Amino acid sequence: MAENDPHQSGADWWRDAVTYEVYVRSFADGNGDGVGDLPGLTARLGYLRDLGVDAVWITPFFTSPQADHGYDVADYLDVDPLFGTLADADELLERAHALGLRVIVDLVPNHTSSQHPWFQEALASEPGSPQRARYLFRDGRGPDGELPPNNWHSVFGGPAWTREPRGQWYLHLFDSAQPDLDWRNPDVGDHFEEVLRFWLDRGVDGFRIDVAHGLVKEEGLRDQLLAAGEQPGSAAPVAGAMVERTMRDEPMWDQPEVHDVYRRWRRVLDEYAARDGRERILIAEAWTQSPESMARFVRPDEMHQAFNFSWLLAPFSAEAFAEVITGTLTAVDLVGASPTWVLSNHDVIRHPTRYGGGERGLARARAATLTMLALPGSAYLYQGEELGLEQVDVAPEHRQDPSWFRTGLPGRDGSRVPVPWAGAAAPYDFGPGQAQPWIPQPAHWRTLTVAAQSDDPDSTLAFYRRALAARRTHLGAASGEPVTDLTVDAGALSFRRGQVTVLLNCGEEPVPLPPGEVLVASGPLSRGPQGTRLLPADRAVWLAAPAAR
Ligand code: GLC
Repeated sequence: MAENDPHQSGADWWRDAVTYEVYVRSFADGNGDGVGDLPGLTARLGYLRDLGVDAVWITPFFTSPQADHGYDVADYLDVDPLFGTLADADELLERAHALGLRVIVDLVPNHTSSQHPWFQEALASEPGSPQRARYLFRDGRGPDGELPPNNWHSVFGGPAWTREPRGQWYLHLFDSAQPDLDWRNPDVGDHFEEVLRFWLDRGVDGFRIDVAHGLVKEEGLRDQLLAAGEQPGSAAPVAGAMVERTMRDEPMWDQPEVHDVYRRWRRVLDEYAARDGRERILIAEAWTQSPESMARFVRPDEMHQAFNFSWLLAPFSAEAFAEVITGTLTAVDLVGASPTWVLSNHDVIRHPTRYGGGERGLARARAATLTMLALPGSAYLYQGEELGLEQVDVAPEHRQDPSWFRTGLPGRDGSRVPVPWAGAAAPYDFGPGQAQPWIPQPAHWRTLTVAAQSDDPDSTLAFYRRALAARRTHLGAASGEPVTDLTVDAGALSFRRGQVTVLLNCGEEPVPLPPGEVLVASGPLSRGPQGTRLLPADRAVWLAAPAAR
């Protein structure tokens, strides 16, 4: 760890860290097979250090048949040969730490792969056996048990139950190749403690917890109560589309007992921190129903952080952003936690596309990002957003997302297209040689490669580098500084934090800039008739705040 870097040292490093999500299949391919891997990532870590992030979250690289691209784990204690070896993981950790980058790995505790030895043993065992009791096997309804045990639906479409050859049904809230574990069975908790310790011993700095709100189901597995006309469903991104969070009956999600799991894990992490003063963190992926239920995951004896999806779900509107800022800060304050902010990840439509696409979508995306980077707490970036990549319309024959196969909806492949690094044609230096990546990259990406953007001061990459540097320079010491003077006026949002005033114009017309030196802007500013400085629509700026009187 680079101890001389004030941003990196200290127990609370995570409170205001900027973490970059690496979707490992699509970041960098070290061996030329068209799929990203750990050596590919290790070789590109310098790029992330130069970009100015503090930590890297790597999507699952454990042994997996890849039915959901690694979110179906068959062995939590090994690396899938597609991505490398345990030695490659060690090398990655060593190199990242030498560069001052923390490493967060992705833990998938809600379900295993159907190829996991536990599930294979369960299938080979009698109904009622201890092998089956690690999962949620149940008899079906109907005279011959030919109907699923309840009305739950999979997040990826269709019933959440599959009948197995011995006639019972097993629960899978996602794909049928991802059977849900029974977290009321002590074997399960014991195994995951072993998994945590295994990776902590190898040196990881934290865990992103997949489907953190799903582990424990309501006892009895009753039907979900549905209002007239309401479709069974879930609080999670479905097939790349956003679902609105509404209050609904969800016996499969967010049960009170799930918090005991995280209390146990926190004790394990704290034990490691007590040894060397280096805090390791847990971050929840929990699509819960409200900021308050999200806050329950970050009580002082549970996780350190939870993704705040309300920022990502908000439309590009000053009122909506202001409401999310106030709601988030109030919710995390209740439990003394610090907030997080995110605009894109591997499950949702990339934010320039969500904001309308094209030049306007990109201008809005840069503006929302710059605003987010001034807020207290930590920010999560998703690979490729620093290049301004848009969602790709992947041709049906190239789609691989299990949700596409289960629903016929486009799915999430369009946000997972491999990163273009250099060159005028695919594979854009994604890997050595000419192997085409596992999803084709569009021809127009030749102007968006890292190499093409590196020397262009107006590029999105140059903007991200400036914004992250400005965050360190002007807000690096402002960890504890609150948001003040939050205002919405004429479609523009403004607030102050420490020595920085932030202005985001979500309206249609340019707005005059208040006095103060421009520290960083998401795009060019303009001038009014008398030479007044103006902030055009869809743009954000940080100004040096006038000294408090
Ligand atoms: C999470 C992951 C998503 C995965 C799902 C099932 O939502 O982010 O990619 O498909 O869990 O593990």
